[in-house]
Amino acid sequence: MATCTTAILGTGSYAPAKILTNDDLAQIVDTSDEWILSRTGIRERRLAAPGETNSDMAARAASIALADAGMLPAAIDAVIVATMTADMPMPSTACFVQHKLGIPDHAACFDLNAACSGFLYALDTACALVESGRYRHALVIGSEKLSAVLDWQDRTTCVLFGDAAGAVVVGRSARPDTGFLGCNLNANGSVTDILCIPGGGSNLPLTAELLASRQQFIRMKGREVFKIAVRAMEESAREILEQHQLRPDQISCVIPHQANLRIIELIAEYLGIPLDRFFINLDRYGNTSAASIPLALDEARRAGRVCAGDIVLMIAFGAGLTYGSVLIRL
Ligand code: ACO
Repeated sequence: MATCTTAILGTGSYAPAKILTNDDLAQIVDTSDEWILSRTGIRERRLAAPGETNSDMAARAASIALADAGMLPAAIDAVIVATMTADMPMPSTACFVQHKLGIPDHAACFDLNAACSGFLYALDTACALVESGRYRHALVIGSEKLSAVLDWQDRTTCVLFGDAAGAVVVGRSARPDTGFLGCNLNANGSVTDILCIPGGGSNLPLTAELLASRQQFIRMKGREVFKIAVRAMEESAREILEQHQLRPDQISCVIPHQANLRIIELIAEYLGIPLDRFFINLDRYGNTSAASIPLALDEARRAGRVCAGDIVLMIAFGAGLTYGSVLIRL
């Protein structure tokens, strides 16, 4: 009998139709296409339609991933949604997704919050669940409705983010040239203050005063995040390549978290991997946090940028600060 390995069996993604360009943003805050494009590489981002929820987007991406895997919802026994913009504090977004897709009650459903690194944390968790033999097929979704937590009066943050969802199905594969190779997940909890949503949790519950002080929105010290992000992503990627004795030229494609083109260019330079081997779509979506890597992975596959058997390196960082890398053979 063939030995099975834990692998990604299908991918899917979804982005809302509404496009907000840099010029559109210049009508809302004091900014310009030139500033946003030159500092970040972002040209436009998507916005969820009125009434469109995070779980709506997550369910759409997940149903495409299921179709790609040739699988019915009934085959899923775990749903993990990586998000920091859950539909509600409770219940979990994963439960809404379960119901929308008709996934049976026997599935374990939960959300996971590691900000922009959330998808890699969720992917590693799903692989461990499947490898344990306790679960057969896990839906791993990164989905964010960041437009709901942006301060549309703050030009230093509102120009950076967008709404979207991406999903993968994780299960066992008999293909010899595929599989989850490894990961390293990390966090530096000493810098929680440089990127956070201070209010709305149990520490600072919603009050009229809190809303008036706009603490329910994302706050970021961009320059500090930038410096730590570059170092952390480089270290994490270098470590995982060393652990697996892989040279940079053996990596077919790098899927980095899509936050800022300048961050990606620096990482490419430091790792010695040509920039053209990095898949980049942040110009069209901005930073979609936990959705960014699965959205890029799905687009890279559909564009033929990654093929079956390719070694793919995914690298992320996010609030926490969390960071890490995952190596897979597609
Ligand atoms: N339009 C015009 N001017 C602006 C804008 C804007 N949208 N935003 C800031 N400025 C101004 C600032 O006010 C400042 O003006 P001053 O010099 O008169 O004070 C000037 O531009 C420079 O501001 P900086 O913040 O120093 O600009 P910087 O070159 O660092 O770029 C940026 C800012 C793009 C945010 C960068 O620091 C960055 O990308 N940091 C990383 C952020 C990131 O990746 N966050 C996602 C984390 S993932 C997660 O978990 C959510």
